[in-house]
Formats: sequence, C-alpha cells, structure tokens
Amino acid sequence: MQIRFADRRPARDYALVLPVAGKDRSTLGALGAAQQAVSTALDRQRFEGDASSAFEHFFDDNGSVRRLLLVGTGAGSAPRDAAEKLGGTAAAKLQTSGEKTAFIDVSGLGYDADTAARVGLAAALRSWRYDRYRTKLKDNQKPTLEEVVIVGGDAAAAKRYEQRWAPVVEGVSLTRELVTEPANIIYPESFVERVRAALKGTGLEIEVLDRAAMEKLGMGALLGVAQGSVREARLMILKWNGSGKGGQPTAFVGKGVTFDTGGISIKPAAGMEAMKWDMGGAGAVVGALKALALRKAKANVVGICGLVENMPSGSAQRPGDVVTTMSGQTVEVINTDAEGRLVLADAITYVQRNFKPATIIDLATLTGAILVSLGHEWAGLFSNNDELAGKLQAIGEESGDKLWRMPLAEAFDRLIDSPIADMKNVGPREGGSITAAQFIQRFIENGVKWAHIDMAGKAWADKAATTYDKGATGFGVRLLDQYVADVLEG
Ligand code: BES
Ligand code: MN
Ligand code: ZN
Repeated sequence: MQIRFADRRPARDYALVLPVAGKDRSTLGALGAAQQAVSTALDRQRFEGDASSAFEHFFDDNGSVRRLLLVGTGAGSAPRDAAEKLGGTAAAKLQTSGEKTAFIDVSGLGYDADTAARVGLAAALRSWRYDRYRTKLKDNQKPTLEEVVIVGGDAAAAKRYEQRWAPVVEGVSLTRELVTEPANIIYPESFVERVRAALKGTGLEIEVLDRAAMEKLGMGALLGVAQGSVREARLMILKWNGSGKGGQPTAFVGKGVTFDTGGISIKPAAGMEAMKWDMGGAGAVVGALKALALRKAKANVVGICGLVENMPSGSAQRPGDVVTTMSGQTVEVINTDAEGRLVLADAITYVQRNFKPATIIDLATLTGAILVSLGHEWAGLFSNNDELAGKLQAIGEESGDKLWRMPLAEAFDRLIDSPIADMKNVGPREGGSITAAQFIQRFIENGVKWAHIDMAGKAWADKAATTYDKGATGFGVRLLDQYVADVLEG
C-alpha cells in the first residue's frame, strides 16, 4: 500500500475519510450539499466522535455514489494521538472494503508536518498483513486498498513521512514478518539469511558467529540452551555507524529463541505454538536497526541477536547442569525453560567485551510473570540508571510502546544464589520477572548503563489496536528508534 500526500482531492474514484473530534462536526463542511443529511444520520446513529469510533455512509457526490468514512478522534485528544487513530482506523476499515484509494482530508485542522505525516505512518502500519500461507482467500477477503492520500498536509508532510516515518514502517514490517513466520521456516540460520536479504543495500554491517566461534569464546550458557536442537545457534551482530565520529556505541540486545519448547523442563502442549514468537526481542532489534539505517540516523548503534532453538532431546541440557558463561561466572540450570536469560547473559558479555557500549538496552519475551504483573498493555522496564529509565518511560508513551518500571534490589538478587555454582537460573515463583532481571544484571559490567525490557506480553496481540491487527505487533521498533532520535541524535 502506498502513502501519498496531496493538496487537493484526486480526480478519480476514492473513499473520503474525515476526522470528527468528539461532538465538533466542523470537518463535515468538506461534504458540501451532503453535509446536512450526513449530520442527521450521525444524530440517528448516536455517533459522538469518540476516539477510534467509525461511521460509514454512502452519499451522492455531484452525481456519483461515494463512500464516506468518518473516524472519531475524541474530544481534546492530542493531535499526535488523533492523527494516528485517524490513519490507523481508516486503513483498518477500508483495507478489504473494495475501495482502492482512500482520501483522508486533514485540511483545516492545523496539523503540522509531523502530525500529518503520522496519519500516513499509522495507516501504513495498520495495513500490514502476511498472506503468504493463505492460499484460499476469497476475493472479498483480499485487500483492495492500494493508496492512502493525505490531503491538507503539504510538501513538508510528504518529506517528513519519507525521511522520518517510512523507514519506521519498513523496520516494523520486517520485525512482524520475522515474528509471524513459524519455527520450521525461521530458525537461527534462516533468521540470519532472511535478515541479510532484508538489509541488503541499507549500509548495515552484519557479522555472524556460528557454534564453533561461540565455543571458542566460551559461551556455555547460550550454547547449553541450543544443544538439544538440530538447528545450530547463531549470534548475529548488526552495526550502524552513522554519527560520523567515534565514541562508545549504544547496544541493543535481543532474545532470539526461535522456538521455546521449554527443553527438558517442557511446557504444556496447550498454547505452545505461541512460542514461535519467542524471538520477538531479536526481531525488534533487527527492525529498529533497519529503520535507523534507512533514515541514516546520526548515531552509532550495535544490535546483537542471540539466536537459538530450545528443544528437548537426548543431547539437551538437563535440570541441574552447571554451565560456564563467557563472563566466567557459572550457572546452575535449575529449569531449562528459563533459557532466555542464559542466551542474553552471553550476548551481553560479548557486546561489552567487543564494543564497550556506554548503554545497553535488552529486549526479551522473558517471563510469563510479567503478564501476571502488567497484562498485555505495558512491557516491564528494569534499569540500573534512573535517568535512562525515565527517558525510556517517556519515550514509551510517545512511541506507543509503553513501559512500566519494576524494581531491582539486593534482596531479589540473593534469591538466585546457588549452593553449587555462582548463581542458579531461576528464583522462587514470586517476583519471577524481577529475579530474571537480577540474573541479567549479574552480567552487566561496572559503569555500563543498562535497561532490560520484558516484553512477553507485547510481541503478539490477540486483539487489534490502532497500529496493528491481531498477531505480531512489532513492539520495540518504534521505542528503540525514538530513543535514538531523542537521546542519541537529539
Ligand atoms: N519464553 C518464555 C516466557 C513467555 C511466557 C513468553 C509466556 C511469552 C508468554 C520464557 O522462556 C519462559 O519459559 N519463562 C519461564 C521462566 C520460569 C521457568 C522461571 C516462565 O515464565 O514460565
Ligand atoms: Mn522458556
Ligand atoms: Zn523463552
């Protein structure tokens, strides 16, 4: 689907989309002679312009029958929110409607270039879908919407969209594709190949470590998780050097468990298919780096993806095994299903030893416990630095990838001491997301600012929202991209 900007309505056939902010119907002036009839219909429907509500209608537009979609943006919502609700709702309603062109009229609303561009951002994000394996879609189930034209944003809005938001759409789309693909298609090796193809020509440098290379480095924790699978592990490193100067980079680290059966501590069968998206953190890192490269961000960022498949087999690690991590610290693996932290431990040591980052942000679908705490609305945020945490929380609100801060403390750290090794990989059931974060913190070296984002409730959605349909959300891409824009470039 194409996003375009124009200063007047196109001549050909189109559906007209108008925003309605609460009970304020001033935008209906664009309807000319039909205004009164539509307004009456709105009364009869009891349409009050609530955020994300929609009203569909056909009217006689100078002799032709035209589809009208009114999208409620809520009374008094911030323009940025209203713009995203408008674009997202319009795309959702019209995607398979039979209409090829939607004309979203924002003239007269006083939107600045960025706000108008965000109408396009939300429309593009909301219309992403993945039909690769659906061979029997009926004609009326297939998407028809080919272009969304935003009118009333001008050339500056078009430029803003191309430079700032089109790259983000590309990044989020790549993340969603990786997350959506099943585990027989995307496993560590094929993840790397898919990413390589998707990043060709972006200027991103890619480096990949195979098992032999990781053995040499002593990554016993990551390799211990992988050892039950016939799919070999990979560590993928993406480098973006856009700042034009040296200095310590920022590192984004993603958990990339391409399938998590739990290993010998096997998960129950019901719902296990969801564990194909246990690589959502790695997916977000890849998508964010793609966005940064496409918009030529003036920052130095390294993205690390720890890629493994967690399987039970004759070669799998057992509960009670002790592994030695790249850091030299030893871990008693009490539960083979607490594998994400083992993968992150070695990935984080690797990035610190090789890149000396000032700041590390890791993203992981790490614990079921974070779902108990925060449900599907917020991801959990853990950090050793209040300033970093504050910035991330604010950027979370702004980008829509919302974060809620959780505690870290010595008292939780003690819960993962082991009688036989330096630590064990699980604590008690209570506070499970926190002890998982404490485990990761044991691998953060002195002076490194660190934030851990537990996004187990956010990689996949069972219900649609403004900028995504059911399925892969692309969570994390907008967050990391905006972090770079505000903190590293700003
Ligand atoms: N990938 C899971 C976490 C998860 C659970 C993500 C549900 C999304 C939805 C992780 O590897 C895991 O299995 N965690 C265990 C940890 C436990 C064994 C300490 C969990 O949360 O049950
Ligand atoms: Mn697990
Ligand atoms: Zn997992």
